[in-house]
Amino acid sequence: MTIPAHPRRWFGLFCLLVVAFSVGGCSPTATPSTAIVTDADESATITPHPRPPVVATGLPPTTPPPEATAPPTATDLPTIAPSPLPTASLTPSPTPDRNIPCSSRIPDNGLLTVVTLTYGLSRDYEPAGLVGLSGYLPNDVTLGYPTELRRAAVTPLVKMITDMQAAGLQPRVLSGYRSFSAQAIARQKWLEKEPDRANILSAPPGFSEHQLGTVIDFGSPELAEIVGQEDIEFHTWFYKTSEGRWLLDNAHKYGFTLSYPFEAFEITGFFYEPWHYRYVGVEMATQLHEEGISLTEHQLATEPPPCIPDSP
Ligand code: DAL
Ligand code: ZN
Repeated sequence: MTIPAHPRRWFGLFCLLVVAFSVGGCSPTATPSTAIVTDADESATITPHPRPPVVATGLPPTTPPPEATAPPTATDLPTIAPSPLPTASLTPSPTPDRNIPCSSRIPDNGLLTVVTLTYGLSRDYEPAGLVGLSGYLPNDVTLGYPTELRRAAVTPLVKMITDMQAAGLQPRVLSGYRSFSAQAIARQKWLEKEPDRANILSAPPGFSEHQLGTVIDFGSPELAEIVGQEDIEFHTWFYKTSEGRWLLDNAHKYGFTLSYPFEAFEITGFFYEPWHYRYVGVEMATQLHEEGISLTEHQLATEPPPCIPDSP
């Protein structure tokens, strides 16, 4: 294992050492996705994956969505017409709703909305401009899932994936936008499967970055062999795969940042998720990469609270 260069990442290294000896203690976060095995529990922690909203079983749809039946090729993939899309800047957009309860918060369409276990989103919040990725990425990337993402992040994602493929990699897109209700389903499955660890494995509905529509969970065909489990989709060892390593080194160049790095737990309440990337724009992603911090750490240190936390 490569020892993280940034000093903060010693916490993550410690975390990994702990999980080697203690089941569930410092184990990594698992998104509510199909099959997850953690470093701490390699005996296969398998959890169904509620993909929104069509795929709630965790299995690929038996009948692919219509747009996926004729997978686009590199030459006939549509391009996204220029439009006044939001751009991320280092200055957060002024939010008019800082003084309302988080459960009522409907953020604007900026890309830097703070979402943590403290600062959630209204159940009614649905991002503007959701786009089905199957129209923009080939089937071997989307695996036929009806994954959606905000339009602003689609072009950077397609560019990044194209460049990964040109480098001989085989990235998979395993999850994107999850509505409040889709997240509730995911959460419920975790509570049933692993009630003691659900809080660190899956965000409660309203507290997941996936509700923003700018987050992608990536997969790698190498993961199964590395983990030794055929149906594995999510595992901390994603960071060992060619795709995971490439993303760690390069995703910021396309505007994506790792939300839950090694040292994330103390700040975010979630463990290492090397597959979970959020689009924040190149400028912010590059700054975070160079400073070796997460978006949440940056925002909590530099911005006023975005809303009033609700009582538990
Ligand atoms: N697994 C991440 C924290 C989520 O549920 O959004
Ligand atoms: Zn995720």
